[in-house]
Amino acid sequence: MRSTRWDCPVPSPEADRRGGLRIANVAHRYGSGADAVTALGPVDLDVEPGAFLVLVGASGCGKSTLLRLIAGFESPSEGQVHVGGAAPTPGVTSGVVFQQPRLFPWRSVGGNIDLALKYAKVPRDLRPERRAAILERVGLEGTASRKIWEISGGQQQRVAIARALAAETPLFLLDEPFAALDALTRERLQDDVRQVSAESGRTTVFVTHSAEEAAFLGSRIVVLTRRPGKVALDLPSELPRTGVDADELRRSPEFLKLRNEVGEAVRAAAA
Ligand SMILES: Nc1ncnc2c1ncn2[C@@H]1O[C@H](COP(=O)(O)OP(=O)(O)O)[C@@H](O)[C@H]1O
Ligand SMILES: [Mg+2]
Repeated sequence: MRSTRWDCPVPSPEADRRGGLRIANVAHRYGSGADAVTALGPVDLDVEPGAFLVLVGASGCGKSTLLRLIAGFESPSEGQVHVGGAAPTPGVTSGVVFQQPRLFPWRSVGGNIDLALKYAKVPRDLRPERRAAILERVGLEGTASRKIWEISGGQQQRVAIARALAAETPLFLLDEPFAALDALTRERLQDDVRQVSAESGRTTVFVTHSAEEAAFLGSRIVVLTRRPGKVALDLPSELPRTGVDADELRRSPEFLKLRNEVGEAVRAAAA
């Protein structure tokens, strides 16, 4: 029997470290025969630990497909996904935030976080302290006893983010998490996710169709072509990740230039 050790393609030390992500010639199809749809790829990306990778592209280009493959919810039709040098395990290698918060409505805010800590096998006596720290980190201090239906949509999405951060997974994945929120709430959550990701050092992969959101958040921005999504542009961002006021950053010429560049690339890639 062949050892899986030798199944990996070209070694990539950075991408194989904890929190590193390797997407090696990944393509994905849905269905079979005449009904088969090639949704993605081939895509080849090495992501260094701690990066904030944004995948941006038009609706239907395969962004969610790629995120699901990274989470390990599905296996690619071709190629391999490696997280820290091994295949991803759902619920273990990644914390995931979706467009809808998908919380347990009959539990309190704190109860939702406790459940995540329990699944992450955090000992019971350590959970209250961890829960308080995580809620503070996402701007929800003092809300542990509130019921889910008592808090706003933006706050519910903060709980979903806290839940994804509760388990200290190497990857933090977000699929259009702010698409259903109003513009102001969306900006505040963008500010916080940008900061939380940089502070936690966790490798983040964020899916969006918004060039503005991509330019604001990413330390690296990958624009995908229309279906089947391939890499049209792979752009490192020079914007500072920490020690900068978010509103100032949004007004800076550097950000506006990047936003325009990404916007043009998204439009060209969708054509
Ligand atoms: N489970 C599925 N079965 C069949 N086709 C699918 C499935 N999921 C996605 N697709 C198709 O794959 C393509 C990419 O979908 P998706 O990854 O959701 O794109 P995006 O997130 O960029 O909007 C779309 O054409 C979509 O209809
Ligand atoms: Mg999607």
